[in-house]
Amino acid sequence: MSLIKADVGSLAGHSIVHPKLIEFSKEKLREAKETGLIIDFFVFNAGDDLELLMTHTKGEDNPEIHKLAWDTFVEATSKVSRPLKLYGAGQDLLKEAFSGNVRGMGPGVAEMEFEERPSEPIVVFAADKTEPGAWNLPLFRIFADPFNTAGLVIDPKMHGGFKFEVMDVIENKTVILNAPEEFYDILALIGTPSRYIIRRVWRKSDNLIAAAASVTRLSLIAGKYVGKDDPVLIIRAQHGLPAVGEILEAFAFPHMVAGWMRGSHVGPLMPVPLKYAKCTRFDGPPRVVALGFQLHDGILEGPNDLFDDPAFDYTRNTAQFIAEYIRRHGPFMPHRLGPEEMEYTTLPAVLKKLEDRFREVT
Ligand code: F6R
Ligand code: MG
Ligand code: MG
Repeated sequence: MSLIKADVGSLAGHSIVHPKLIEFSKEKLREAKETGLIIDFFVFNAGDDLELLMTHTKGEDNPEIHKLAWDTFVEATSKVSRPLKLYGAGQDLLKEAFSGNVRGMGPGVAEMEFEERPSEPIVVFAADKTEPGAWNLPLFRIFADPFNTAGLVIDPKMHGGFKFEVMDVIENKTVILNAPEEFYDILALIGTPSRYIIRRVWRKSDNLIAAAASVTRLSLIAGKYVGKDDPVLIIRAQHGLPAVGEILEAFAFPHMVAGWMRGSHVGPLMPVPLKYAKCTRFDGPPRVVALGFQLHDGILEGPNDLFDDPAFDYTRNTAQFIAEYIRRHGPFMPHRLGPEEMEYTTLPAVLKKLEDRFREVT
């Protein structure tokens, strides 16, 4: 299963993917389905990010699948975004020529190779106006926190715990850590979500792959601000893995994430249905959608738009309360990100102008 996404242009600023971009991408993937390259697909949007969910038998990092996604983004840009002068046309396509894999070229990728179980429930997440580290807190809760996931205590198949692959996106290294034994070590890393990002999760007892997230940090590729990375995540559910409800439970708390307005502010992550996967207030607040599918021989049965439920109204209200509170800080930290993160924004250019006005303290 491959979920590959990019922001290739948006309707009115950085708000939503134009419906014509979605139509165009569906058509491209429909052709690929007819030729047998992919088994099935679902195209959707999270804010201004175009999301291509695909199933196939080619495994992870497959050049043909990655090329299909890349070509879809490139053509959607040239045939839809540019003629309509959509905002930020081709924004996330950072390289010119395709070289076999979209990783490192701008688009975000979450991929997982597995054998379909007798029943295979999957939850796919996509967020806008945030960064891949935004999944750290919910992933930890889902796979390591018994106060979130009852199955960790009750279900013998989950009782052995899970292992987490954590990536250091600055040093480009990964480490595998076990829960619950290395609970505190995991938290020591993932509490810095701008640098340490959970990339994959496996069930420890049999190494069954349970979750895969995108880890692209566009600014680290480009060396400058080019929009936030607006991550995606795939989680397998049930029957010895967290239940769909345990997975969703982790999003009932609208935790603070980086990436709001100009990629430079923190705000609460608000779970929304697809119809509200659009960014408005202060280009946000950061939003996440969750789609449930049942796989059958690679066919994506669904989606079930999981946050389209009053059970998440309280979370949304809380998110708005927090949004209002933190917004009152205006340009002040901790609403605005700290200097380390602001390095990749346009702020250094402003600060540079003041450089020779500084005098030694006498
Ligand atoms: C955040 C985002 C937007 C833009 C903002 C300014 O990820 O995409 O908040 O940063 O709208 O955009 P420009 O500089 O394109 O006018
Ligand atoms: Mg955009
Ligand atoms: Mg976006």
